[in-house]
Amino acid sequence: MTNECITIFKGDTSRLRNTIPMTERLAPEFFDEEVKKIFSKSWLIIGTSKELVEKGSYIVTDVPPLKASLIIVRGEDEKIRVFRNICRHRGDKLVHGKEGCSKFFQCQFHAWTFSNTGNLIGVTDATQFKDMKKDELGLIEIHSEVWEDIVFVNFEEHPTQTLKEWLGDIYGQYKGFSDNRVKVADHRVVVNTNWNLAVNAFCEGYHNIFIHKNTVPDYQGSPSNPNRHRPYLEVGKHFGRYSAHGNPNHKPTPAEGIFYKYSRPMFPSFVQFEMDKLPIGVNPSRFKQWAFDIVHLFPNIVIGPQANTNSIMLFWPISHNKTDIRVMRFSYKTDKPSDRIAQAHSLVRNREVLREDLATMETQYESIASGGLPYMFLSEQEQLIQNHYRAADDMLNEET
Ligand code: FES
Ligand SMILES: [Fe+2]
Repeated sequence: MTNECITIFKGDTSRLRNTIPMTERLAPEFFDEEVKKIFSKSWLIIGTSKELVEKGSYIVTDVPPLKASLIIVRGEDEKIRVFRNICRHRGDKLVHGKEGCSKFFQCQFHAWTFSNTGNLIGVTDATQFKDMKKDELGLIEIHSEVWEDIVFVNFEEHPTQTLKEWLGDIYGQYKGFSDNRVKVADHRVVVNTNWNLAVNAFCEGYHNIFIHKNTVPDYQGSPSNPNRHRPYLEVGKHFGRYSAHGNPNHKPTPAEGIFYKYSRPMFPSFVQFEMDKLPIGVNPSRFKQWAFDIVHLFPNIVIGPQANTNSIMLFWPISHNKTDIRVMRFSYKTDKPSDRIAQAHSLVRNREVLREDLATMETQYESIASGGLPYMFLSEQEQLIQNHYRAADDMLNEET
């Protein structure tokens, strides 16, 4: 008889494959196809609305695979919109900073002015422009939707699916989870690897027992789950998610012991969160010793809900072999110094773990790109990775 943790598997696994030939997927021509058929058509996360508190608050961000610079702005009418960061006169970049708050945007080249709702409101030497129709020269808007507090965009001229259709069942399952949470860290690192490999590294827990043995040796699993199997694992059309098993016998370091005595436990200590306070999508199986979930939103997003914190990771391909990884971390609002110290401590521990996750990406890329590996051979615990390539192939094989 085995005392291994039994994984509850959910979702249609009939089209998953446990062998994934990879070398061809790492070629530049393959990346061109991914941009055309995946990134140009998917709903993509570009930021959160938390930072856009006041009317006129804006953030400038880029979407590397589509070579796009975008302005996310809360207009005077409170609505959040996303515009291409391009002046409608002769196309100079409109906003050069990273963020701010303004009623309007003015181009530095010839001083055309646009309102924060995107209208062209000022043209210098206007009488010299024949047949000008100002209402046809507003900023170019990109389709966007806000889910909970997360801003998604879709670059299709007419998106074939709404965000709700794209996310499917999980759309209504996270209601209110990010309420009262604020951004506490924002990391960015460019890694010489393919974006698929970077996403994959965060879509399985098989590695944590080995890669993270020095930093967080006992944060997951238990004597009844020595291989740290996921208690819950689900795949859907454009998502995959699993829950992780927090070790009830985790030995806090002396620092953790002090910080969490005066504050709420956070990674790598996990509390028994009151289950009835969780939205139904978080810890879907209501596993008692829950540590955190991993939610992979195809193609390039990984969200990590936990009891007192959560994270959003974006894996933006710059090219076939360069990936821009952005990690945003959120935690509960607090003014208490002991909470702030506990949050800072958890962030540092998390960053150490993140560094270890990054460590395999470049060597793995080099090995596979050399053509020396016929295929990756994946376990059942790596089903989110299998599902990633199933979703990718579905879009790549779609007729355009
Ligand atoms: S390019 Fe912006 S005003 Fe001319
Ligand atoms: Fe990891």
